[in-house]
Amino acid sequence: MAELTERIMDHVTSTNIDRAMLMDYLSEFLAVEQGGIKLYRAALQIVQHDEIRRKFHEFHQETLKHVSILEKVIGELGGDPGYQSTSAKIAEKKAEGLLQTMTATNGMSAKLAEINAIENIVLAETKDQADWALLGKIARQTTDSHLGDVLKAAVDEVEPEENEHLTWTKSKMAELAMGAVSE
Ligand SMILES: [Fe+2]
Ligand SMILES: [Fe+2]
Repeated sequence: MAELTERIMDHVTSTNIDRAMLMDYLSEFLAVEQGGIKLYRAALQIVQHDEIRRKFHEFHQETLKHVSILEKVIGELGGDPGYQSTSAKIAEKKAEGLLQTMTATNGMSAKLAEINAIENIVLAETKDQADWALLGKIARQTTDSHLGDVLKAAVDEVEPEENEHLTWTKSKMAELAMGAVSE
């Protein structure tokens, strides 16, 4: 309900968007998606349950599509998808940090390695989902109709998928962790 009220308020609020800052953010969000691709690839080598494997395969494919959509958005806004902002470089390092915990399993059992992999996906998807929620907010509030149109088309396609990526992985992580502590 609070989220719905906020969305309605966005439509009556107009904001001037700092274009340079937005382009830096879009570069960062692209790095988050690219990090997600690597994380899904690594996680798919580790997860054992068929259901998780199936979902991660689906989410991996959607993440590849999100990269293309963001590159297209950046191009349509006059930016260069090859440009990497400072925050994009940091996002890349964060993903590398998570990846390291998956390549070196540090003596974890197969069960713990699977929980660790899904936890890393939850961490990455938390940021990914927040990024697209922010783009939705910008699309609703911007005074620039071209910017609004470009972002809205992308958000309409991606945001429902991001919501599923996060809610599904979060509840699966809780289920696996509960299973691990149950006798
Ligand atoms: Fe994504
Ligand atoms: Fe995602």
